[in-house]
Amino acid sequence: MDKNIKNLSNLLILCTFSLFLTACVGGQTGRNNSGQYKNGMVVSAHPEASKVGLDILKKGGNAIDAAVAVQFALAVVYPDAGNIGGGGFLVYRSAKGELASLDFREKAPGKATRDMYLDAAGNAITEKSIFGHLAAGVPGSVDGMVKAHAKFGKLSWAEVVQPALNLAQNGFSITESQAREFAGMQKSIKKYNPGKTYFIKDKWTKGELWAQKDLAKTLQLIRDKGRDGFYSGEVADLIVAEMQKGGGLITKEDLKNYQAQWRDPLVGNYKDYKIITMPPPSSGGIALLQLLNSVEGYPLKRYGFNSDSTIQLLVEAERRVYADRATHLGDPDFYKVPQKYLINPSYSTQRMGNFNWNRATLSSDIKAGEAPIESEETTHFSIVDRQGNAVAVTTTLNGGYGSMVFVNGAGFLLNNEMDDFSVKPGTPNMFGLLGGEANAIEPGKRMLSSMTPTILEKNGDLFMVVGTPGGSTIITSVFQTILNTIEFDMSMQRAVNAKRFHHQWLPDEVLIENGGFDSLVRVKLEGKGYKFRERKAIGRVDAILKTKWGYYEGGADPRGDDTKLGW
Ligand code: GLY
Repeated sequence: MDKNIKNLSNLLILCTFSLFLTACVGGQTGRNNSGQYKNGMVVSAHPEASKVGLDILKKGGNAIDAAVAVQFALAVVYPDAGNIGGGGFLVYRSAKGELASLDFREKAPGKATRDMYLDAAGNAITEKSIFGHLAAGVPGSVDGMVKAHAKFGKLSWAEVVQPALNLAQNGFSITESQAREFAGMQKSIKKYNPGKTYFIKDKWTKGELWAQKDLAKTLQLIRDKGRDGFYSGEVADLIVAEMQKGGGLITKEDLKNYQAQWRDPLVGNYKDYKIITMPPPSSGGIALLQLLNSVEGYPLKRYGFNSDSTIQLLVEAERRVYADRATHLGDPDFYKVPQKYLINPSYSTQRMGNFNWNRATLSSDIKAGEAPIESEETTHFSIVDRQGNAVAVTTTLNGGYGSMVFVNGAGFLLNNEMDDFSVKPGTPNMFGLLGGEANAIEPGKRMLSSMTPTILEKNGDLFMVVGTPGGSTIITSVFQTILNTIEFDMSMQRAVNAKRFHHQWLPDEVLIENGGFDSLVRVKLEGKGYKFRERKAIGRVDAILKTKWGYYEGGADPRGDDTKLGW
């Protein structure tokens, strides 16, 4: 062949090959034609927070660096649940398969007492555990981030805090749903923050730039001093002054003593999958493993997605697991949780033994226990970095905007996590549910949670990172999202979008998302004694799936502003 022709044909082969590669991985971005990414991914509740996480990954940070940056960014751009005044849980799996889980859940203040929300006649004063200063537990988020970063972080602490500081200092564009929600919050914020101007204005407009100078000052202290920037010095003084003004209990001692805790992650199996999830004081991990154990022996694939058989089976599993959750789960540092027993597959098989396909089991026939109520506002994010390290973080103030109390001068909201305790063990709480001894209030104890940050492995490799907000519905949303992928072969986004349902033993009803089921399926199940209640949305799952080709496919919940970004 003539040399020139040969060069030309080599060039052509090279061009064709690079075109093929570009089509496959989208050049530098690592994106393929299916919108999956090779180099990493962040899925969180707010576009600005996801962007912060992605920037950290791109500049060489690992999944933990990105998680710390996203946690702080959410505290700025997503004040309904993102926080430095709350707490949460983190589950980690390194690319090599090393596992860790971090408990940065809030704690009851040292002066908390078992009956602190009861009046003289012994009746629960529910407003006190939900709103205002007395509702706040000692925050854990800042210490949690410091510990996560110290153990696994790669970039400097300042580098991972700075993006949130920039957002607080320079402002960020609020989304349409935030404009609506912030306007709707004004009455409550004014009520619990008399005389303050922070976050108080009647008109909020989509796209307006919102800067938070006090929060920026606090973040600067955290950036420069790490945990001391929050748990001692100026910010601690402001928290304690706020407590004293509003009758709250958190003291300087409480703040100084707070320590997030590394715990052994809970590990179980479902078919070929290894489930790595959060142990107590979250109930989420144990309950998730129990749910998976309860349904593993049934041919779900054959029943089909949201068929009457699938719904019935899942509801009966959920009913039994939530009854157990109420009775047996609490902070393991204060209460002996029968963890091994509950997650043994044979225990779940035995629990499902009295399930009858012909009619609904009555919750009153299931061993009565106590089901602590949790409100719905929390947030979750999932991250995978270029090396394949994965992290799942669920974090919360408890209710939307927590206790509604802003720390004067420090620019952040305090949680109302004390309401996750059983305010009055053994008697119905404000929602008609019972509270258990295992989760009674004690000084320094962590309140029971449902948060379920979870990572799945298949054949020794990363398979999924998943989690959601949603109070007691967190566990069932994670459970159903996992089944949607494994059993019903859905892509990550479809699994997240799919309509969800929830049963929590008491009240004895199945919550379903509006238009969630085929009407015939509903009629059939009603005929067997199931009661349904519709509501707008259940959970906001943010998840990442690793495909068999090694790409990351995100599932960002369309129920919110949730955003997936990859590279
Ligand atoms: N506050 C919600 C939860 O921890 O489950």
